[in-house]
Amino acid sequence: MDTDNTDNIASTGLRIGDTPPDFEARSTIGPVKLSAYRGKWLILFSHPADFTPVCTTEFVELSKQSAQFDRRDCALMALSVDSLFSHFAWLRLIKERFDIEVRFPIVEDPTMVIGRAFGMVAPKDNDSAAVRTTFYIDPHGTIRATTCYPADVGRSIPEMLRTLDALQAIDAHGGLAPANWTPGSSLLQPPTHDLDEVYSALDESGWFLREMPKERGE
Ligand code: BEZ
Repeated sequence: MDTDNTDNIASTGLRIGDTPPDFEARSTIGPVKLSAYRGKWLILFSHPADFTPVCTTEFVELSKQSAQFDRRDCALMALSVDSLFSHFAWLRLIKERFDIEVRFPIVEDPTMVIGRAFGMVAPKDNDSAAVRTTFYIDPHGTIRATTCYPADVGRSIPEMLRTLDALQAIDAHGGLAPANWTPGSSLLQPPTHDLDEVYSALDESGWFLREMPKERGE
């Protein structure tokens, strides 16, 4: 792993707009390198531990929805402190119990070097079971969104897809995704910085709360 500035990153955590440090690690599909995912979207997420109930439901649901992530040209990559062989045993159990094959890579991070560099584990925390962090990384390798849930609340896979859809829509069309935005509904225009536009707006909120004009064919 490129650890040049790892100490610094671990103490501050990674934020939206950052380029995360590259890493290479063993995973359930063989060695993976973060920078090899440039050119496509990537959701990199940590889970507290293999063989735990909430994590199992997340992996089952993510696997069921894997075609939805493929359709959005988005790869999934999971990570925990468990060993590769623990990951294998857990995936085998998921296959037997749910008839689901988890095909996205699960990285082993037994020393927590990646988890700490990404702020998935508190710098001084020895209990890796405290984190359920998700990074949405765009094709340029930039972090575009992050979420952090506690160990006892599972992530919403529809919300992960919606967040991805919103990021991809604003990249394609510009604008802003409002509350509860879903694909097909209107994006909003960024607020104006022009006082003349403020005064000439047709109604009171028209200068700051405006939908994007519909594109031809929409
Ligand atoms: C779970 O995924 O169910 C879990 C993980 C760590 C601690 C508690 C629950």
